[in-house]
Amino acid sequence: MKATTFFAVAFAAAIAVGSSAAQAGDAAAGEKVFARCKSCHSVGKGEAHRVGPNLHGVVGRKCASTDFPRYSAGLKACAAKGAAWDAASLGAYIPDAAGYLDKTYGAKGAGMTPQKLDATQLADVIAYLESLK
Ligand code: HEC
Repeated sequence: MKATTFFAVAFAAAIAVGSSAAQAGDAAAGEKVFARCKSCHSVGKGEAHRVGPNLHGVVGRKCASTDFPRYSAGLKACAAKGAAWDAASLGAYIPDAAGYLDKTYGAKGAGMTPQKLDATQLADVIAYLESLK
Protein backbone atom coordinates (compact mmCIF):
# COMPACT_ATOMS: atom_id res chain seq x y z
CA MET A 1 0.00 0.00 0.00
CA LYS A 2 1.34 3.43 -0.85
CA ALA A 3 2.09 5.77 2.06
CA THR A 4 -0.51 8.29 0.87
CA THR A 5 -3.18 5.59 0.60
CA PHE A 6 -2.17 4.26 3.99
CA PHE A 7 -2.52 7.70 5.52
CA ALA A 8 -5.88 8.31 3.87
CA VAL A 9 -7.13 5.04 5.40
CA ALA A 10 -5.60 5.82 8.79
CA PHE A 11 -7.06 9.32 8.68
CA ALA A 12 -10.52 8.06 7.77
CA ALA A 13 -10.28 5.53 10.61
CA ALA A 14 -9.23 8.28 13.01
CA ILE A 15 -12.25 10.37 12.01
CA ALA A 16 -14.46 7.31 12.49
CA VAL A 17 -13.33 6.84 16.10
CA GLY A 18 -13.91 10.49 16.85
CA SER A 19 -11.98 12.27 19.57
CA SER A 20 -9.74 9.43 20.77
CA ALA A 21 -6.24 10.40 21.91
CA ALA A 22 -4.74 8.36 19.06
CA GLN A 23 -6.45 10.53 16.48
CA ALA A 24 -5.40 13.88 17.93
CA GLY A 25 -1.66 13.26 17.81
CA ASP A 26 0.67 14.18 20.63
CA ALA A 27 2.50 17.48 20.13
CA ALA A 28 5.19 16.68 22.72
CA ALA A 29 5.97 13.37 21.00
CA GLY A 30 5.81 15.23 17.68
CA GLU A 31 8.50 17.65 18.81
CA LYS A 32 10.84 14.64 19.15
CA VAL A 33 9.85 13.41 15.68
CA PHE A 34 10.58 16.92 14.38
CA ALA A 35 14.27 16.44 15.30
CA ARG A 36 14.68 14.92 11.84
CA CYS A 37 13.18 18.00 10.17
CA LYS A 38 15.26 20.52 12.09
CA SER A 39 18.33 20.48 9.89
CA CYS A 40 16.14 21.93 7.12
CA HIS A 41 13.37 23.79 8.98
CA SER A 42 13.37 26.47 11.70
CA VAL A 43 10.11 26.97 13.65
CA GLY A 44 10.66 30.13 15.73
CA LYS A 45 8.54 33.11 14.72
CA GLY A 46 10.63 35.22 12.33
CA GLU A 47 13.58 32.81 12.49
CA ALA A 48 15.67 32.55 9.30
CA HIS A 49 14.80 29.91 6.71
CA ARG A 50 17.20 26.97 6.39
CA VAL A 51 17.36 24.51 3.48
CA GLY A 52 13.55 24.70 3.61
CA PRO A 53 11.10 27.42 4.73
CA ASN A 54 10.40 28.37 8.37
CA LEU A 55 7.37 26.35 9.55
CA HIS A 56 6.00 28.67 12.22
CA GLY A 57 2.20 28.69 11.87
CA VAL A 58 2.31 26.39 8.83
CA VAL A 59 -1.02 24.69 9.63
CA GLY A 60 -3.77 26.80 8.08
CA ARG A 61 -1.26 28.83 6.07
CA LYS A 62 -1.34 28.79 2.27
CA CYS A 63 1.38 26.65 0.73
CA ALA A 64 4.52 28.51 -0.31
CA SER A 65 3.40 31.71 1.44
CA THR A 66 6.55 32.70 3.34
CA ASP A 67 9.34 34.81 1.81
CA PHE A 68 11.45 31.65 1.35
CA PRO A 69 13.25 32.33 -1.97
CA ARG A 70 13.56 28.80 -3.33
CA TYR A 71 10.01 27.40 -3.50
CA SER A 72 9.67 24.80 -6.27
CA ALA A 73 7.26 24.86 -9.20
CA GLY A 74 5.22 22.24 -7.31
CA LEU A 75 4.67 24.36 -4.19
CA LYS A 76 4.05 27.45 -6.35
CA ALA A 77 1.37 25.49 -8.22
CA CYS A 78 -0.19 24.57 -4.85
CA ALA A 79 -0.18 28.27 -3.90
CA ALA A 80 -1.70 29.24 -7.25
CA LYS A 81 -4.69 26.99 -6.39
CA GLY A 82 -5.06 28.83 -3.10
CA ALA A 83 -4.61 25.62 -1.10
CA ALA A 84 -3.79 25.87 2.61
CA TRP A 85 -2.03 23.24 4.73
CA ASP A 86 -4.26 21.09 6.91
CA ALA A 87 -3.78 17.73 8.62
CA ALA A 88 -4.86 15.78 5.53
CA SER A 89 -2.63 17.56 3.02
CA LEU A 90 0.35 17.54 5.41
CA GLY A 91 -0.23 13.83 6.03
CA ALA A 92 0.07 13.18 2.32
CA TYR A 93 2.88 15.68 1.67
CA ILE A 94 5.37 14.96 4.47
CA PRO A 95 6.07 11.28 3.58
CA ASP A 96 6.35 11.98 -0.16
CA ALA A 97 6.70 15.70 -0.84
CA ALA A 98 7.69 15.52 -4.50
CA GLY A 99 5.22 12.75 -5.35
CA TYR A 100 2.34 14.53 -3.61
CA LEU A 101 2.94 17.80 -5.51
CA ASP A 102 3.33 16.01 -8.82
CA LYS A 103 0.13 13.97 -8.33
CA THR A 104 -1.96 16.80 -6.89
CA TYR A 105 -0.71 19.85 -8.80
CA GLY A 106 1.15 18.37 -11.77
CA ALA A 107 4.39 20.17 -10.98
CA LYS A 108 7.60 19.09 -9.31
CA GLY A 109 8.70 19.69 -5.73
CA ALA A 110 12.36 20.14 -4.86
CA GLY A 111 14.64 19.76 -1.88
CA MET A 112 12.36 17.97 0.58
CA THR A 113 13.42 14.36 1.01
CA PRO A 114 10.72 11.68 1.64
CA GLN A 115 10.19 11.30 5.41
CA LYS A 116 9.64 7.73 6.56
CA LEU A 117 7.22 8.01 9.49
CA ASP A 118 4.66 5.57 10.83
CA ALA A 119 1.04 6.75 11.21
CA THR A 120 1.55 7.69 14.88
CA GLN A 121 4.73 9.68 14.21
CA LEU A 122 2.99 11.44 11.34
CA ALA A 123 -0.05 12.39 13.47
CA ASP A 124 2.29 13.50 16.28
CA VAL A 125 4.48 15.70 14.07
CA ILE A 126 1.36 17.33 12.57
CA ALA A 127 0.06 18.00 16.12
CA TYR A 128 3.42 19.60 16.86
CA LEU A 129 3.19 21.79 13.72
CA GLU A 130 -0.34 22.78 14.80
CA SER A 131 1.04 23.91 18.16
CA LEU A 132 3.40 26.44 16.50
CA LYS A 133 1.15 29.45 16.66
C1 HEC B 1 16.54 17.82 3.42
C2 HEC B 1 15.84 18.97 3.92
C3 HEC B 1 14.43 18.78 4.45
C4 HEC B 1 13.99 17.92 5.42
C5 HEC B 1 14.78 16.87 6.21
C6 HEC B 1 12.59 18.23 5.63
N1 HEC B 1 12.19 19.23 4.76
FE1 HEC B 1 10.33 20.07 4.64
N2 HEC B 1 10.96 21.23 3.07
C7 HEC B 1 12.23 21.26 2.57
C8 HEC B 1 12.28 22.12 1.40
C9 HEC B 1 13.50 22.44 0.54
C10 HEC B 1 10.95 22.59 1.21
C11 HEC B 1 10.43 23.41 0.03
C12 HEC B 1 10.05 22.34 -1.01
C13 HEC B 1 9.63 22.81 -2.36
O1 HEC B 1 9.75 24.02 -2.67
O2 HEC B 1 9.17 21.95 -3.14
C14 HEC B 1 10.14 22.02 2.30
C15 HEC B 1 8.79 22.28 2.49
C16 HEC B 1 8.06 21.84 3.58
C17 HEC B 1 6.69 22.24 3.86
C18 HEC B 1 5.85 23.25 3.06
C19 HEC B 1 6.12 24.65 3.61
C20 HEC B 1 5.41 25.80 2.95
O3 HEC B 1 5.81 26.96 3.26
O4 HEC B 1 4.49 25.61 2.14
C21 HEC B 1 6.32 21.57 4.99
C22 HEC B 1 4.99 21.63 5.70
C23 HEC B 1 7.45 20.75 5.41
N3 HEC B 1 8.50 20.95 4.54
C24 HEC B 1 7.47 19.93 6.53
C25 HEC B 1 8.55 19.10 6.89
C26 HEC B 1 8.52 18.18 8.02
C27 HEC B 1 7.39 18.05 9.02
C28 HEC B 1 9.71 17.50 8.01
C29 HEC B 1 10.18 16.40 8.93
C30 HEC B 1 9.29 15.25 9.13
C31 HEC B 1 10.48 18.02 6.89
N4 HEC B 1 9.75 18.98 6.24
C32 HEC B 1 11.77 17.60 6.55
C33 HEC B 1 13.33 20.59 3.07
C34 HEC B 1 13.29 19.59 4.04
